[in-house]
Amino acid sequence: MKVTIFGIGYVGLVQAAALADVGHDVICVDVDADKIERLNRCEVSIYEPGLTRLVKENHEAGRLQFTSDAARGVEHSKIQFVAVGTPPDEDGSADLRHVIAVAESIATHMDGHRIIITKSTVPVGTADRIRSVVQASLVARGRPDLTFDVASNPEFLKEGSAVADFMKPDRIILGTDNEETEQVVRELYAPFSRNHDKIIIMDARSAEFTKYAANCMLATKISFMNEMANLAERLGADIEEVRRGIGSDPRIGYHFIYPGIGYGGSCFPKDVQALIHLAESAGFEPAVLKSVEARNKTQKTVLFDKIRQHFGDDLKGRTFALWGLAFKPNTDDMREAPSRVIMQALWEAGAHVRAFDPEAMGECRRLYGERVDLALVDSPEAALDGADALVIATEWKQFHAPDFDLMKSKLKHPVIFDGRNLFNPETVSRYGLRYYAIGRGKRMNDKHNLVSILREV
Ligand SMILES: NC(=O)c1ccc[n+]([C@@H]2O[C@H](COP(=O)([O-])OP(=O)(O)OC[C@H]3O[C@@H](n4cnc5c(N)ncnc54)[C@H](O)[C@@H]3O)[C@@H](O)[C@H]2O)c1
Repeated sequence: MKVTIFGIGYVGLVQAAALADVGHDVICVDVDADKIERLNRCEVSIYEPGLTRLVKENHEAGRLQFTSDAARGVEHSKIQFVAVGTPPDEDGSADLRHVIAVAESIATHMDGHRIIITKSTVPVGTADRIRSVVQASLVARGRPDLTFDVASNPEFLKEGSAVADFMKPDRIILGTDNEETEQVVRELYAPFSRNHDKIIIMDARSAEFTKYAANCMLATKISFMNEMANLAERLGADIEEVRRGIGSDPRIGYHFIYPGIGYGGSCFPKDVQALIHLAESAGFEPAVLKSVEARNKTQKTVLFDKIRQHFGDDLKGRTFALWGLAFKPNTDDMREAPSRVIMQALWEAGAHVRAFDPEAMGECRRLYGERVDLALVDSPEAALDGADALVIATEWKQFHAPDFDLMKSKLKHPVIFDGRNLFNPETVSRYGLRYYAIGRGKRMNDKHNLVSILREV
């Protein structure tokens, strides 16, 4: 089938490459002419396992084309996906500027029936808004006779495993009440729905809401667990034991209950904020969502608080090795990454950072440029050279089993601040290293502090 996708970011490019790979004829339209030029040379600027190969093979086979010519995209196909960004506005609401621009573009160039499908995460009611925008543009063009439909098909892929997620989705949500649209979308996704029917049909508003509810539920699990971790620390319990204890209950499950230093990335923070805004504009107080967001903000600073607790307020002239810059493993994305909050706090306190990340070094250089207080080094071990202590911000696989002897010999102070609970505290202390992690009260270094807290309790 012929397909057009507007917006070739994480979502658009993965979707385009995956659809082309099963044989569809895909045209991608983006306003970023540089990006289009690079993609036409098969240069993929994001790190996503398997994506570059997929883009290259399908581009060379002629099934995947890139253009900045919107008219060509609109002309190509009846199916028009909208996968542009919906960044947060100043008040936290989703900025729909790009979505509306694409809708207007489609209305300007269409000359036959079109099905406009939003892939972007958009506020509830956006399909109706797109419908009005397109209708008004067609009237202004003198072509009110042209027909179109608007549907919602939110995307649930995860950065780091985006290709695999798209190829083997848990579910495909389609918000439409139009039979033809349903049939077209079913045919389009049939190759991804062979094992069993993954398509769940609902109305557009419910589909739009499903995406927010899913992300906010996951963010809630993370913030809840982080709250439990902070409490465990104060009560002398080990959150890792608690995690196993509660995860074994199938009603709770093991997924998304890892304590840490807060969620980041391009989706959870903005989607929680957007739903808060949406709730408030509907006259509803989203108490849970507000707490989720507040907990996440403070959680990003807990590792720095531990650093200050250990070294004192004066960090001037100290150097910290930092393992992990990306907001999570298997991506180079540093949007809203906890590492950024930690680096900023260290810099403000006059400290230097020696950082390593397997994929996000280029992104870090792009974000921060050359700074005297930031050294980007080419291995985890090199980050330890001349450092006072080690800080871990991302749970990359290669950080899980380090050479603790080497670590001890390199660090000026044998201390690890681990924001991802990668190690067994007993193992680390056997190597003579002091270990600060998240929520591991039972193994807390500062016994006196714990005793005094318990007395207060
Ligand atoms: N990144 C994720 O993991 C993820 C997962 C699920 C859903 N989403 C949602 O999908 C949407 C896209 O996210 P992303 O991470 O792919 O964004 P992104 O920022 O990586 O890419 C968006 C692209 O849209 C392009 N664009 C902007 N205006 C345009 C226009 N008028 N015409 C054509 N192209 C235009 C930009 O140049 C950019 O290349 C967002 O709503 C996001 O919330 C993202």
